[in-house]
Amino acid sequence: MPVITHIEDLRVLAKKRVPRMFYDYADSGSWTESTYLANESDFQRIKLRQRVAVNMENRSTATKMIGIDVAMPVAIAPTGLTGMQHADGEILAARAAKRFGIPFTLSTMSICSIEDVSQGTGGHPFWFQLYVMKDRGFIERLIDRAKAANCSALVLTLDLQILGQRHKDLKNGLSAPPKLTLSTIANLMTKPRWGLGMLGTKRRGFGNIVGHVSGIENMGSLSEWTAKQFDTALNWGDVEWIKKRWGGKLILKGIQDVEDAKLAVGSGADALIVSNHGGRQLDGAESSIRALPPIADAVGRQIEVHMDGGIRSGQDVLKARALGARGTYIGRAFLYGLGAMGEAGVDKVLQIIHNELDLTMAFCGHTKIDTVDQGILLPGTY
Ligand code: GLV
Repeated sequence: MPVITHIEDLRVLAKKRVPRMFYDYADSGSWTESTYLANESDFQRIKLRQRVAVNMENRSTATKMIGIDVAMPVAIAPTGLTGMQHADGEILAARAAKRFGIPFTLSTMSICSIEDVSQGTGGHPFWFQLYVMKDRGFIERLIDRAKAANCSALVLTLDLQILGQRHKDLKNGLSAPPKLTLSTIANLMTKPRWGLGMLGTKRRGFGNIVGHVSGIENMGSLSEWTAKQFDTALNWGDVEWIKKRWGGKLILKGIQDVEDAKLAVGSGADALIVSNHGGRQLDGAESSIRALPPIADAVGRQIEVHMDGGIRSGQDVLKARALGARGTYIGRAFLYGLGAMGEAGVDKVLQIIHNELDLTMAFCGHTKIDTVDQGILLPGTY
């Protein structure tokens, strides 16, 4: 077993252990992947200012996201098909998040259902991400199920009513459970640990959907389902309707433009997430960390601004925080831990990111995450 010291170690291990179609689903962006790659590389350009001889005792990364106490300003992002990276993946990641004291966000397109995650975490509150479908009755029931499960925020995704093309998913014939073609069987035979896990669970389809929509007994492909069911007419009027129906904390995900950020403020939502969906939707869009500062400047005093996209270390979290994000989300980083080592792998991810965040904050001369601002960044590098 290699010594795991950073997220990249877990990515390499996940690539070995997770069937190709699911590893590729996580580790890809749309079309040329330029936005996916920029999300990470633009973090590298931003330089930190080292300060010395500042008392660094009694440090704390604890803060709040939408009024909820968090051990660090990091939440687990909603990611589709998480239970295909590792059997029961959503339950395992939600348990790790609960243990660490950060929010877990469950995707509409998860394998484990809302009820599975609620039961698996002893009723601990988590956040639920909503995709809007044409069938409004189904959406109403989903919202009601999230309420019944004690979800403490609804994360409404606004940037995926149509799907950006990810070449690898088409080439791999992505589906859940996987369709057993010869090349898939050959690949699965090299992943015995994954296979054993899957044999031990009954959760192998889209748990929030199969059995909850009449006529849907089986729905293998995310792209087919998106094309048929997602509501391409979604608009700000629907946001108002959803906010009312939900009645709790609302976070709008997928904002990239200052004009949309102002509309988000007007909607009365509690927070917005600056996000390009991990570079999986509009390829050629700006990286999230570059889109963040103008949005935080324009609306950061009226709405809580969060961001996701490209975070692979605690240093990235600190940079995002310095540029105005009150909270951040990790998607691929936690999926790599999950695919590599299950629940212990997600624990490891959170420990690694926390440790990097805590030490870097201290090197930059701060002991409390809440005092960190742009002053920790080298001018001209952001
Ligand atoms: C779904 O959210 C995806 O990005 O695949």
